Amino acid sequence: MKIEEVKSTTKTLRIATHSHVKGLGLDESGYAHQSSAGLVGQELAREAAGIVTDMIKSKKMAGRAVLLAGPPGTGKTAIALAIAQELGSKVPFCPMVGSEVYSTEIKKTEVLMENFRRAIGLRIKETKEVYEGEVIELTPAETENPMGGYGKTVSHVVIGLKTAKGTKQLKLDPSIYESLQKEKVEVGDVIYIEANSGAVKRQGRSDAFATEFDLEAEEYVPLPKGDVHKKKEVIQDVTLHDLDIANAKPQGGQDIMAMMGQLMKPRKTEITDKLRKEINKVVNKYIDQGIAELVPGVLFIDEVHMLDIECFTYLHRALESSLAPIVIFATNRGKCTIKGTEDVISPHGIPLDLLDRLMIIRTLPYSQEEMSQIIKIRAQIERIDISDESLQALSEVGVKTTLRYAIQLLTPGSLLANINGKQLIGREEVEEINELFFDAKSSAKVLSEQEDKYMK
Ligand SMILES: Nc1ncnc2c1ncn2[C@@H]1O[C@H](COP(=O)(O)OP(=O)(O)O)[C@@H](O)[C@H]1O
Ligand SMILES: [Mg+2]
Repeated sequence: MKIEEVKSTTKTLRIATHSHVKGLGLDESGYAHQSSAGLVGQELAREAAGIVTDMIKSKKMAGRAVLLAGPPGTGKTAIALAIAQELGSKVPFCPMVGSEVYSTEIKKTEVLMENFRRAIGLRIKETKEVYEGEVIELTPAETENPMGGYGKTVSHVVIGLKTAKGTKQLKLDPSIYESLQKEKVEVGDVIYIEANSGAVKRQGRSDAFATEFDLEAEEYVPLPKGDVHKKKEVIQDVTLHDLDIANAKPQGGQDIMAMMGQLMKPRKTEITDKLRKEINKVVNKYIDQGIAELVPGVLFIDEVHMLDIECFTYLHRALESSLAPIVIFATNRGKCTIKGTEDVISPHGIPLDLLDRLMIIRTLPYSQEEMSQIIKIRAQIERIDISDESLQALSEVGVKTTLRYAIQLLTPGSLLANINGKQLIGREEVEEINELFFDAKSSAKVLSEQEDKYMK
């Protein structure tokens, strides 16, 4: 199995509307501050989410599932993302929306399976022979291109590494120069190079340089101790999906024939059940040998009522497997028909037997005061100035419609204020915008009033 240099395939989160959420905002004993870490109110749900987070961290949750249920705009997605923030980057968190399973190319259960495996992490510990230190010299040696033609090629690269104990100069293969460039290694960085594979890992900037810029998102690391050439315990965090992808890719080389071959067969590589079974086998062996540790992460399925009965059956079974993540569902539906059935009505559109194993966290509508606090936080994040009076007006809109709708009015409101030559959004702008746009409820009302004028 290929595990070296496995690229992480974490999905990027589309959380622009939740960018103010930094965590659950709980104190040490697990009680929610009224407003903290970007979250306001909804104390009980946040405290419950805190307990779930603790259970996930202590690995007591694998194979279980939680449902966040509440009306639209009550912070279900925000709380799920806050859980992800609390878990940190080492625990996989895979967000998806129920409707993602409907695709003409991929089977529904295949989509679910892929996301399941994105949510299961594996921490692999290996003792490796490495060269580690702060880079004090990095010189590629160039020669004329041996094939003739223009340009030069790198024949080897000379690198100097420094530790607390001493320095060492290495002469390395040009392929390592490429990895050095890929990791953007510069003089002053702390790196290690694996002796066997030549894989390069940049650990951060040496803390001797910590004062060079104040405002950089750099990680500073101390000068490594011991010799440059040594045995080191290397920890790699991957997900099962990363392993699937890395081992499914055609293993062709870099030469022109291999590339042509790929051009002629543009078929997407498929992750087969057989491949997954093999990977599971190797993973289980690693776990038994103590080389790897399973890190059950979180699969978050938003708008879960969009799944159909086939998906629910599949999910229910998958939750029983020994390699299962924690699943967090969210829905804003009450009693409704389960998709894919004729007339089976169930709470939240979820089959009763699955519902039976869920822990349910409720989110409640916000008060006007809480809405105005949240809108204020959003305005700050979007760098929009808004007067207290129009904050009041917007939160009134929020109470009548939904919080999300009120938040969405911020940007057009500030545009309008600009047009009117103002710095602040005022009450007039809020009123004008609210007349220009419709929220879902009033739009539905208009539709039913003027039903005869629309095409059927
Ligand atoms: N308690 C809260 N504190 C701060 N922001 C919140 C809170 N609840 C919701 N929001 C924000 O309000 C908007 C709508 O909430 P969202 O989580 O999408 O609701 P839901 O998923 O329940 O429909 C989002 O921008 C969200 O970040
Ligand atoms: Mg949501």
